[in-house]
Amino acid sequence: MHYSYAMETIPFAVPYIGAEEEEAVLRVLRSGWLTTGTETLAFEQEFASMLGVPPRQTLAVNSATSGLHLALEACGVCKGDLVLVPSYTFASTAEVVRYLQADIAFVDCAPGTFLMDIEKLQESIDRLSRGKSAYGWRGGFGPCGTPKAIIPVHYGGLCCDMEAINAIARRYNMRTVEDAAHAFVAYGAQGKPAGTQGDAGVFSFYATKPITTGEGGMIVCADPACAERIAIMRSHGIDRPVWSRYTDTKASWYYQVVDAGYKYNIPDILSALGRVQLSRVAYTLERRKRIAALYDAAFANDERFLIPPTASGDARHLYPLRLHEALDRDGFIAALKDGGIGASVHFIPLHTMPYYQKLYGLRDDDFPESYKNFRQEISLPLWPAMTDEQVQRVISCVQNTAVL
Ligand SMILES: Cc1ncc(COP(=O)(O)O)c(C=O)c1O
Repeated sequence: MHYSYAMETIPFAVPYIGAEEEEAVLRVLRSGWLTTGTETLAFEQEFASMLGVPPRQTLAVNSATSGLHLALEACGVCKGDLVLVPSYTFASTAEVVRYLQADIAFVDCAPGTFLMDIEKLQESIDRLSRGKSAYGWRGGFGPCGTPKAIIPVHYGGLCCDMEAINAIARRYNMRTVEDAAHAFVAYGAQGKPAGTQGDAGVFSFYATKPITTGEGGMIVCADPACAERIAIMRSHGIDRPVWSRYTDTKASWYYQVVDAGYKYNIPDILSALGRVQLSRVAYTLERRKRIAALYDAAFANDERFLIPPTASGDARHLYPLRLHEALDRDGFIAALKDGGIGASVHFIPLHTMPYYQKLYGLRDDDFPESYKNFRQEISLPLWPAMTDEQVQRVISCVQNTAVL
């Protein structure tokens, strides 16, 4: 694997890219067809077969953000609707709701976890369906409206309880769009892959993600009609895939615009890269699990740290370590940097962001579990080409930095 950082530095994330990826990209560059085409079709089919879902309901796009947007749109979310979103997530999960002029009801984390609190989710939907504001919003303040969809986030590859979330959604006639950006491949309690249990699931191929194409994403849909809508809307609302215009016997120039769609297709250069990454996923997944297990063993039973709560099917995309409240998280990250170790924070909760505070009148302490996670969390380096020696260096540096 190639990476050119000084050996003494251990970056936070490094993509696992080798000669096969280079060859795949070169093959496409030399083929004369750079944009969406047969490589993308093959990528969709191979991705679908790995998850055991229908290939025609598996659609590649240029990011998970565009995938979430398309999935919500195809689920019928529109102006005035409400979508329940965890506050502990990345900007994308919520911004797509705003693209559709719908509103967001944030949901806190369950205590001691990084995942959406299902009891509070239920309580919020209950309140909203009785015309009240969602749980956690002060004094009746906050959005009201028809609860239309839930976006559970499989944070860091840790699986949400999709059976419980789907049961709530069914009870209130709502849709679920799983944000599985971190969760390729993670298996929930029922043994089903994350991203395949809701109305739609969306995966990310951003540079740091479990498999990467630099930028990219994949949508898996339960309903063929939903997939059909997404196929049209990802490509300008045109009723015909671009490559068919060049390969069909029908006139190549003919197409119809049936709606105001988007430009969300993924080019074949990236799909070719993604196909190689797919072929390596069994190894990269196992390697991430092994590194996470080394961290778990080093930091469990140490009062200075809380290791992430995990289940056996989880993908270990992130290693979110929580520090003792007496430790200064920001100072800790700076000290690790001085020791040549990159770290990050996942996430700064969305309810603390100026845009959402202004829009919904929120305060930092409105979702206390999410805020508490943010104040204590550091994400340690976790990437497949890390050696066991590098992992040990991270462990020693973290242990030596954590002086209570
Ligand atoms: C939880 C989550 N959802 C969605 C996204 C968006 O992914 P993309 O960069 O592919 O749009 C990210 C990206 O980091 C993420 O962390």
